[in-house]
Amino acid sequence: MEAVLQVERLTKTYPGNSAPSLKNAGFALKKGEIAGVIGPSGAGKSTLLRCINRLIEASDGAVFIEGDEITGASQKQVKNIRRRVGMIFQHYNLVGRLTVMQNVMHGRLGYMSTVDGILGRYTEEDKRHALELLRKTGLETMIYHRAGELSGGQKQRVGIVRALMQEPSILLCDEPIASLDPASALVVMEMIRSLCRERNIACLVNLHQVDVAKKFCDRIIGMHGGGIVYDGPSWELQDSVIEKIYGKPIDQLMLGGEGHGGR
Ligand SMILES: Nc1ncnc2c1ncn2[C@@H]1O[C@H](COP(=O)(O)OP(=O)(O)O)[C@@H](O)[C@H]1O
Ligand SMILES: [Mg+2]
Repeated sequence: MEAVLQVERLTKTYPGNSAPSLKNAGFALKKGEIAGVIGPSGAGKSTLLRCINRLIEASDGAVFIEGDEITGASQKQVKNIRRRVGMIFQHYNLVGRLTVMQNVMHGRLGYMSTVDGILGRYTEEDKRHALELLRKTGLETMIYHRAGELSGGQKQRVGIVRALMQEPSILLCDEPIASLDPASALVVMEMIRSLCRERNIACLVNLHQVDVAKKFCDRIIGMHGGGIVYDGPSWELQDSVIEKIYGKPIDQLMLGGEGHGGR
C-alpha cells in the first residue's frame, strides 16, 4: 500500500549553524498509523515536522504526501498538498477574539477562494460537519464563546476540530499537550488517537514524555542530535534504547522528570 507520508534523507542545517539540526531522516507512515516522535529538547523533533510541511525549507532530501512531493513543489502546489496535512500546535494557534465556530471553520479556508473565505461563505455541509465534530469533542456548548476565553484543554480540542475540518490524510502534532495539565493532556491524546483511528488518518506526534508516547502510539521514532536512533513498535522500546535517545541513564531521566514518567 502507498505510504501517506514518505520521508527520504531529510536534512536541515539552519543558516549560520555549522551542524545540521536534522540528519538524513527517513521513514514512511501508513494510513491510520500513529507514530510518536520522542527525544530530548533540541533533538530536532520540531525541525522534522516543520520540514515535512514546508513551514521551513529542508536543506536536502524529499518528502512525499500521498505520493506527491511537497519538497520542491511550487507555492500553488504546496497550498494544494497542505490541505491534506492537518497541524496541531503546542500553543493552539487559535484567533482568540473569534468564536470557536469561526476558528473551526478556518479549517476549510484551503478549499475556498480568498473572497469566499473573507466573507465566511461556508457550505451547509461544512457547517454540519463542524457541529458534528464539536459535539463529538464535547464543545457544543462553547460554539459561540470566544476562543480566547477557553481553558487550554478546550483550546486544543478546538485546534483538533479545526485540523479535522481540512479532512486531512495526515495530522502533524508538535507537542500538543506540553502546555496542558495531566488530566487535559490525556483527554487530548485520547481524542487525537480515536479520531485518527476512526478516520484512518496517519498521525505524527512530537511528545516529550516517553510514557505518553508508549500509551498512545503504535510506533515510536526516537531522535537524538538530529538523527533517528530508534524506529519501531512502542512495545519494543527498551530502557537501553530510551537511554540512547535521551543520552542519560534511565534513573536520571525519571528523577529529572524529563522524558520518562513524571510530569
Ligand atoms: N531557527 C533556528 N535557527 C537556528 N537553529 C535552530 C533554529 N530552530 C532550531 N534550531 C536548532 O536546531 C536544533 C533542533 O531544534 P528543534 O527542532 O526545535 O528540537 P526539538 O523540537 O526536538 O526540541 C536545536 O539545536 C536548535 O537550537
Ligand atoms: Mg520542539
